Amino acid sequence: MNNVVLKEGINWVGVVDWNLRDFHGYITDRGTSYNAYLIRDEKTALIDTVKCSFADELIENIEQLTSVEKIDYLIVNHVEMDHSGSLPVIAKLAKNAKIISSQRGKDALIEHFGAEFNRVETVKTGDEIQLGKRTLRFIETPMLHWPDSMFSYLVEDKILFSNDAFGEHLASSGRYDDEVDEQVLMEEARTYYANILTPFAPLITRKIQEVVQMGIPIEIIAPDHGVIWRKDPSKIINAYLQWSSGASKQEAVVIYDTMWGSTDKMARAIADGIISQGIEVKLLKLRATSNTDAVTAVLEAKTVIVGSPTLNNQMFPTVSSFLTYITGLKPKGKLWSFFGSFGWGGGAVRDMTEMAKKAGFQIQEGSVEVKYIPDEEDLKKCFDFGQQIAQKIKA
Ligand code: FEO
Repeated sequence: MNNVVLKEGINWVGVVDWNLRDFHGYITDRGTSYNAYLIRDEKTALIDTVKCSFADELIENIEQLTSVEKIDYLIVNHVEMDHSGSLPVIAKLAKNAKIISSQRGKDALIEHFGAEFNRVETVKTGDEIQLGKRTLRFIETPMLHWPDSMFSYLVEDKILFSNDAFGEHLASSGRYDDEVDEQVLMEEARTYYANILTPFAPLITRKIQEVVQMGIPIEIIAPDHGVIWRKDPSKIINAYLQWSSGASKQEAVVIYDTMWGSTDKMARAIADGIISQGIEVKLLKLRATSNTDAVTAVLEAKTVIVGSPTLNNQMFPTVSSFLTYITGLKPKGKLWSFFGSFGWGGGAVRDMTEMAKKAGFQIQEGSVEVKYIPDEEDLKKCFDFGQQIAQKIKA
């Protein structure tokens, strides 16, 4: 799949990783792609590379258009290995090419690949290189999502090469937004945002505003994962503005695990209480749901209710894993509450609450705990707890 022409002389030369199911812990049910782009003008530029295990495929794709040796510029928008993993191989073949990155990119390249990357030339926001008829302009985007990250903008063609931003982990035969199922596309874009970009929400809003203020027209957004946005690039920009605003729906999500079914019964009773007030709820058991999907469900929910049985005086391991993951992502503007069951000593609700407090989460007063198996009275307490949560959501 190498004959993907964005505009005359501008090709996608990346690879599709159909079988990837785990991207450093992010469960990628639909695979991914590592996008790289070749621009052929008087000078030839390659924007980003691919994961090192696919270097041969990248080289083959480039060689169908030009010799790798003839590349004049290797643009490194981001050093993470899914994009720079093949750079050492390409840099060896294109030995006369100038390597371009941000200053932090240069530092990271040396730290990743050694002193030979001292030859990297650094650029700042607004710097340009002339390729012939075309101009490549650079926009630094630190912490979106690594310190070194930057965008490259092809001025005359109005193409924004956005690196990780606006991407999805989605393997597909179609390379454009209008060639894949729109619902699947937005579902994967949401999952990608929730799992990778949530901690950087304020920066995203600011950076998008900065790009808008630059007054640069964007006809195409070409990210480094998933499809190229040509039909409607504003769709993904608006989605990012919405997600990064922290706006939530009148919706609750109950995330829990269970040992012998007690916490499960409690979760269902809490959900029934919420539903009785006309509020939408999602119920996710962690041994049936990946952290990836659980975090995505949290993205637009107003309230998160987490439940755990006590195992050896602590919360259940899957719940601990979920809370470790989501306290790192730090979603803003959610109201959190906790519930759980125990046999003798308890401890899960205490530990979950402490963990959430330490992360700075807003916690609703009160919790529900049940010893061994919930009876009717206990389940009524859970139902009432759900109703109280629903009232808070409506308030
Ligand atoms: Fe797709 Fe931050 O690498």
